[in-house]
Order: sequence, then structure tokens, then C-alpha cells
Amino acid sequence: MPEPIIKIKGLTKKFRDGQETLAVDHLSFEIYSGEIVGLLGPNGAGKTTLIHMLLGVLLPTEGSIEIFGMDLSRSREAILSETNFSSAYTMMPMSLTPFQNLNIFARLYGVQQSRQKIEWALKKMEIWDLRDRTTRGLSSGQISRLNLAKAILNDPKLLLLDEPTASMDPDIADKTRHILKEIQRERQMTILYTSHNMVEVETMADRILFLQKGKIVAEGSPQALRSQFQKGTLEEVFLKIART
Ligand SMILES: Nc1ncnc2c1ncn2[C@@H]1O[C@H](COP(=O)(O)OP(=O)(O)OP(=O)(O)O)[C@@H](O)[C@H]1O
Ligand SMILES: [Mg+2]
Repeated sequence: MPEPIIKIKGLTKKFRDGQETLAVDHLSFEIYSGEIVGLLGPNGAGKTTLIHMLLGVLLPTEGSIEIFGMDLSRSREAILSETNFSSAYTMMPMSLTPFQNLNIFARLYGVQQSRQKIEWALKKMEIWDLRDRTTRGLSSGQISRLNLAKAILNDPKLLLLDEPTASMDPDIADKTRHILKEIQRERQMTILYTSHNMVEVETMADRILFLQKGKIVAEGSPQALRSQFQKGTLEEVFLKIART
């Protein structure tokens, strides 16, 4: 058995914000090299909370996270240098151009030959033509692609994506999925991502983790889940799980 890229055990996050919320509830799972894993679940299931813990921006209440065989609480810097993320809802400085924004990240990441790398990332995400506009002037779908360009700048081994295509039109979302799959194949990247688009998950994910109230309630390939729940589409599987 290969070593897992991500190994979490008993991972738990409680928020105390007026009332107590158990956002992630004693989760344990492993993700292996080169896998594309879709994290599904209804609003509030704990998907973003889980991703934030994997990025070390939220501290777990309990449990452990190992990434690349290292403990995240002890080796955060080493792990994050080979990880990246993108979310439809993250923001970059709006008065800078896309090129300038990526330049800042390239420096933060210590990217070698950064000009070429930025050009590669912007061209890959098909927003090279927008490089000298101000970020403020971009549409939300264009900003999502800029976030993805940022996310591939440091050639991450592990990419965590929170609703990466949420604000994209169907055409751009489809292109983006192909681009991500292409990069994943070229660089043997491992991807964990969330989405509410079941067609997307069907085309992207090797494996699905279905989260509900912070627990995994179903798991398997899209095809395996469809046959397990005897449904024709993943959308129907989602509705069935979410409503029971
Ligand atoms: N900073 C916070 N303070 C208090 N409660 C929080 C905080 N962040 C998340 N929660 C709660 O934790 C639960 C899980 O939220 P989370 O954002 O992880 O869900 P999600 O699965 O990403 O949902 P969505 O599909 O809507 O993005 C929710 O009940 C939410 O209200
Ligand atoms: Mg979320």
C-alpha cells in the first residue's frame, strides 16, 4: 500500500459562537497520491472547515493531521510549501493587476524564474490577456481563474480547492475542469475539492467523500455510489443522502 498524502485521525472542530457547533466530528480518512477526491455535502456539512484545518488556518479541537507523512502541527511550513489552495471566495488586492498579484505570491512561495512561471499559470488558466487590467475590473469567474493560477504557481503536490468553479459559466467551468485534470496528470498532483455541481464531481472525482454534520456518511467512486444507492445520477444520490 502506498503512503497516504493526507492521513487524518479523529479530526474534530467545535465552534463556540453563542452556541456550540460540532462542524467536523471525529473524522478519519486517507487520501493517496494522484487521487482526485470530491468532498460533497449539504451547506454547513463541514467541508470548508475541514479544508481550513488541512491548510493550518484553523486549529483542530481534537485529532491529528498528517500530510506527506509529516504532522501538520509540527511541520506546517514544509507541508505548505508543497500545498496550495483556491476558493471562489478568496480575494486578492483589487487595485493591483493579475500579473502583479501573482508576482507577490511568486515571491511569497520563493518561485524560481517567476516571470515564466506566472506567464505559464496565466496562460494555462486562459487569462493571459487580462494580465495588465486591474483585478477590480475582472468578473467573478475571471477572478476564480486568477485564484487557480495562483494555486498552481508553486507546483503543489497537493491542491485543496473549495468550490473552484462556483462562479464560472458552464463553458469556462468545463474548460477549467479539463485544465485541472491535465495539470493533475502532468504533475501527478493530488486534489481534494468541494463542489455543489454533481456533473462536475462525476467527471472529476476518482472518489467521493460525502460529509454530513461533520461525519463521512458515504464514500466511493461516483459509479459505486450510484449503484450503492440505486440511483441513475449523483444528483439523486445527493438528495437521497441529504434528506435522510
Ligand atoms: N468561524 C466560525 N464560527 C462559528 N461557526 C462556524 C464558523 N465557521 C463555520 N461554522 C459552522 O460550522 C459548520 C460547518 O460550516 P462549513 O463552512 O465548514 O460548511 P460547508 O460544508 O463548507 O458548507 P457550504 O456548502 O455552505 O460551503 C456550520 O454550521 C457553520 O455555521
Ligand atoms: Mg464551504
